[in-house]
Amino acid sequence: MNWKEIDTYAKHWIKEAGERIRASFGLELTVETKSNANDLVTNMDKATEEFFYEKINQQFPEHRILGEEGVGEIIQDLKGIVWIIDPIDGTINFVHQQRNFAISIGIFEDGVGKIGLIYDVVHDELYHSFKGGGAFMNGIRLPDLKPVPVKETILAINASWINSNKLIPKEKLIKLVSDVRGTRSTGSAALELAYVAAGRYDAYVTLRLSPWDYAAGLLLVQEVGGAVTDVYGNDIDFLKKSSIFASRPGLHEEMIDTYFKNE
Ligand code: IPD
Ligand code: CA
Ligand code: CA
Repeated sequence: MNWKEIDTYAKHWIKEAGERIRASFGLELTVETKSNANDLVTNMDKATEEFFYEKINQQFPEHRILGEEGVGEIIQDLKGIVWIIDPIDGTINFVHQQRNFAISIGIFEDGVGKIGLIYDVVHDELYHSFKGGGAFMNGIRLPDLKPVPVKETILAINASWINSNKLIPKEKLIKLVSDVRGTRSTGSAALELAYVAAGRYDAYVTLRLSPWDYAAGLLLVQEVGGAVTDVYGNDIDFLKKSSIFASRPGLHEEMIDTYFKNE
């Protein structure tokens, strides 16, 4: 398998897709809802996923695509090469803010993550990782992550999890939020994971994501020595929805033991 070639095409296509999204800002957007009133999808989400489908299908017809908008075939295993794609992660931000959203692509071979790509379209920041080859932001290598204590941690968390969730007692999350230095919420899981990889956030916890939300980000964080598991420390199954906890090494174990594990 020529991974250099796949990598070059993937980077080229993600930039081209970003350019198309930027060009769409002046045009009228069609916004629809999916599972609930806050689950938005636009014509650009669909058009972007179709763009990748056409490019990949033409260049690499044997590759398969697991995309949020369902443009590829139904994927029930990760045999061969599978591209896991979120054409626009952070659609609410895309619609309301025209920023703070990203294209997210993880490329896997027989279930092993090889390439992670997250493109912050508006800021023109491309986060990229290659298994065993490091992680980069616009070609600049991201340093390995070092541990920090909980009290100096910037934690990415969506406030809505503190009230209603089935996984972690709310009292523990309230304590976590008051023990860390500060909390942030970007509204794009892919960007939040890219920020953990870049050391801008020290940790990110979220209780329910789909494979296209976390696939690329997980690869980026792991490539700089960070840890990504579910909130109880279990490995992630790339075909399933999951809670996700990504953080610097050391901090990961401490936070799971102190704040997430049920006694
Ligand atoms: C969403 C974003 C958001 C996360 C949601 C995702 P979408 O993805 O990543 O940050 O909290 O769970 O569904 O719908 O904008 O692609
Ligand atoms: Ca998403
Ligand atoms: Ca999406």
